[in-house]
Amino acid sequence: MDAEKIVMSLILIVLLFPFCTSLDTFTPDQSIKDGQSLISKENNFALGFFSPSNSSYRYLGIWYVKLTKQTVVWVANRNDPIKDSSGVLSINQIGNLVLHDSSNRLLWSTNVSVQGTTSSIAELLDSGNLVVVQSNNKKVLWQSFDHPTDTLLPNMRLGLNRINGLDRFLTSWKSEDDPGTGDYFYKMNPTGSPQVSLYKGSTLYWRSDPWPWKTSSSAAASVSSLFYYDFVNNIDEVSYAYFLDDPSIISRLVVDNSGLLQNLMWNDGDLQWKESWSAPKYRCDNYGHCGSNGKCVPDSDDNFYKFECTCLPGYEPKSPKDWYHRDGSGGCVKKQLGFSMCGNEEGFVKVTRLKGPDSFNAVWMDMSMSSSECEQACLSNCSCTAFTSMNIDGKGTRCLAWYGELMDILENTYERWDLHVRVDAMELATYARKSKGFLGPKRRMAVIILSVSVPLFLVSLIAYMWLMKRKTKVKRNLQNQSFFFIGTKDSLEGNELEDNGRHPDLSIFDLSRIVSATDNFSPSNRLGQGGFGSVFKGQLPNGQLIAVKRLSKSSGQGIEEFKNEVTLIAKLQHRNLVKIFGCCIQEEEKMLIYEYMPNKSLDSFIFVLL
Ligand SMILES: *[C@@H]1O[C@H](CO)[C@@H](O)[C@H](O)[C@H]1NC(C)=O
Ligand SMILES: *[C@@H]1O[C@H](CO)[C@@H](O)[C@H](O)[C@H]1NC(C)=O
Ligand SMILES: *[C@@H]1O[C@H](CO)[C@@H](O)[C@H](O)[C@H]1NC(C)=O
Repeated sequence: MDAEKIVMSLILIVLLFPFCTSLDTFTPDQSIKDGQSLISKENNFALGFFSPSNSSYRYLGIWYVKLTKQTVVWVANRNDPIKDSSGVLSINQIGNLVLHDSSNRLLWSTNVSVQGTTSSIAELLDSGNLVVVQSNNKKVLWQSFDHPTDTLLPNMRLGLNRINGLDRFLTSWKSEDDPGTGDYFYKMNPTGSPQVSLYKGSTLYWRSDPWPWKTSSSAAASVSSLFYYDFVNNIDEVSYAYFLDDPSIISRLVVDNSGLLQNLMWNDGDLQWKESWSAPKYRCDNYGHCGSNGKCVPDSDDNFYKFECTCLPGYEPKSPKDWYHRDGSGGCVKKQLGFSMCGNEEGFVKVTRLKGPDSFNAVWMDMSMSSSECEQACLSNCSCTAFTSMNIDGKGTRCLAWYGELMDILENTYERWDLHVRVDAMELATYARKSKGFLGPKRRMAVIILSVSVPLFLVSLIAYMWLMKRKTKVKRNLQNQSFFFIGTKDSLEGNELEDNGRHPDLSIFDLSRIVSATDNFSPSNRLGQGGFGSVFKGQLPNGQLIAVKRLSKSSGQGIEEFKNEVTLIAKLQHRNLVKIFGCCIQEEEKMLIYEYMPNKSLDSFIFVLL
């Protein structure tokens, strides 16, 4: 510090506190009147009376002594200001700090009880903590760090004491002129894997990453080496505190009256607070911006014209219309493919560089687990939707699993969570293909053929449904009129597609099951052949007859097209249509498994699709 600054500070101190007592403790026989103050040993903090910027009201508070800009970190009577300068702080007979005005009205007090005949002393520590200790044994009875206002200082814990229920959280001021309890809270959410979150009233609007914020493999660890965190989560306590290695750095975390959470550092050069970090800043920071199972991918410059929401693998927009209108808050739902994700050859797709999803529904597996053990653990429980496996300093590789919706996910290059999202077998195959970079002339050929055959099929389908609507009451055998559905034993009375939004679950068949059912695709079981492959008759061990449409390896049909086809047929479940049981995708094989119908017309149905 140069001489000029020292002089400035001295003048300021003299102006602000003309009757400085410059003591750091006070006892029951003393009091602090407006104009007097308590100063911590190293001259860091002062306790006394102040008025916020344009207000004339007086408040008892704690502020930095050395800073040229008045910065209050704690307020006692925040909702009960003193109208004049008659405030007096003292210690009463039972050892509590009490604040009165000239009419002897009690404006604020601590709530402790001193045992026995001993008394208590108040002391302002250099950390900014005002403590009330029992005079005989120095036991701490009360501390201002347990009753924060809008500021978290280094060494101060934020969170919940599970033993006595004490919840330490930050609450914004009402305005710059009024330190009264404002609308914004920064609070520990202990549910699931704990996180700290910002609330407006009871509405969550921003949340931190789930703990841990730093791991041994994290690149972020070295970036912010100025700060380090201590996170405690046990049966007694769930809380965190931050610390600074360098005591000359002046830092605070504050929720301002607009709801912004800011980490500020004092800059000695221009005598200003400088923001080192703040939240929420971008659209993607807003809690649940892309709903559940959605992912927010901000443009590097938060470009307004780009829609930032996408769905996680295996999910699609819940309301495509809202999505089209750039409202992603409805989120995403599991694709309506009909494939079960419970013991049906499902697996995981890794999504990288995320802010981990809201962990209110996440559970840490007890022991140290490798990534593959973690995957097995998640796979074995059908309600497990995702997992992450991470290396935590001193605790080995730990496994965190989510059960239910995956909420509030952000993707960005500086984020460091990898999430493994549970997907069905079909989706898994798609992603495996994508990562292999499947391309080529076969695929182009398939696209050409499919771009003709799928619309044709759809047109036929629409025509069929239209026909059915008109002819519900007309009993006719339509077998010869519509080439793609099977006229079977039933008449066509009461034709309604069974499609009421929910499709039966399809099974993924193991290749070996199909091989044995069709007697290794024996030529004697071959029902016919088309451009894309052959159809075989088969029998499952339970006696069920099946027809297997085996796409030839040279068919060139890509997994996407195959998937579309299965979806289409699955959605078409109708008693007059052949029933699909599932499919088989293994190595280069792609097969559709239908119910076998002894009726000849089956072939005509299946061959349309070939
Ligand atoms: C205080 O009052 C002055 C003059 O009315 C105004 O310019 C300034 O913005 C006010 N400051 C705050 C923090 O409200
Ligand atoms: C003081 O503490 C007691 C017991 O801890 C509690 O019952 C009482 O409500 C508290 N009073 C105030 C004013 O907080
Ligand atoms: C799956 O995990 C959830 C959450 O941990 C648990 O409540 C449920 O009992 C588990 N189900 C099975 C079948 O293990």
